[in-house]
Amino acid sequence: MSGGPIPASPLPLAARAPGKCILFGEHAVVHGRPELLLAIDLYTQLLAAPGETMRLNGEAGALRDNPYLSRAMEEIGAAGRPAIDWRTVSSIPRSAGLGSSAALCAALATVLLARQGGGERALLAERAFRLERGAQGVGSPGDTSASVAGGLVSVNSSEGTLLWEVEADGQRWTVRRVTDPGWVWVVCHSGVTRKTADAVRAVGLRLARPDGPALLDRFAATATAGIAAVRSEDREATGRCLRENQELLREVGVSHERLEALIAVAAPLSFGAKLTGAGAGGSIVALPRPGREVELLQKLRAAGGRPFAVRAAPTGATLVPAPP
Ligand code: MEV
Repeated sequence: MSGGPIPASPLPLAARAPGKCILFGEHAVVHGRPELLLAIDLYTQLLAAPGETMRLNGEAGALRDNPYLSRAMEEIGAAGRPAIDWRTVSSIPRSAGLGSSAALCAALATVLLARQGGGERALLAERAFRLERGAQGVGSPGDTSASVAGGLVSVNSSEGTLLWEVEADGQRWTVRRVTDPGWVWVVCHSGVTRKTADAVRAVGLRLARPDGPALLDRFAATATAGIAAVRSEDREATGRCLRENQELLREVGVSHERLEALIAVAAPLSFGAKLTGAGAGGSIVALPRPGREVELLQKLRAAGGRPFAVRAAPTGATLVPAPP
């Protein structure tokens, strides 16, 4: 499912990487607690061709303004790089909690690794995380690992087969493959954009209060129960855990009135729904009742959201044929 090692390849190169939604444990994962993520079948594609000047989508300024690409260029250093004409195309809404930056980092790391001789997926996961964390300054490797691995992955859980471990600043996260039950999920962007790093810092302050450790224990218990519910293909139990996780996210202050309105729309047509990603805007994820998916999409759209029916992306970040 992950997609195997990245082979050595010269330019021109094209890579594709999926977005993600977090089913359980966002924010708490930054503090070492368990998380479950689904790589979703919305993708970012990145094309890299030899160029006369370094630019992104035709503009040198766009490259300098993109924190992930400019970070990658700094890492490579002027000496090691011929000019590259970068192009991106994405179906993942930006700043929406659906992994657009993780997918860009995973695609970028795929291209760079291929140019530098290729390598295993664990190395790709480490490189993609380094790009995202380098640009955002905070965060866990959950999002980039899901984009590199595809399918369903757990972080900091004993459930599933070990894929890799990622370290940063003395903290270590374990990433495992969890079998995907094949369910259809609905994600819906509220239209309210926000910065992940701001939400992560605000939750960090909230968790530094005296009841922080007890709250983190509750996040961990909910995510652990949620992972077990998905593994045993129990939709009712999964829905209960989604709702419980949403209560905790409300308690740490990252819900938003637009997210609450969309969750209320999803409630009668789903087993459960919650915000997904950093919150404070962004998106929700719902597990629809079988047969009610289309109605759910219509109602979310009528409520002003931008909904997508998604499934697990069958593979993670990968090279794809570059256009001639
Ligand atoms: C953002 O998609 C998920 C957070 O848990 C941050 C992170 O894990 O890097 C809020």
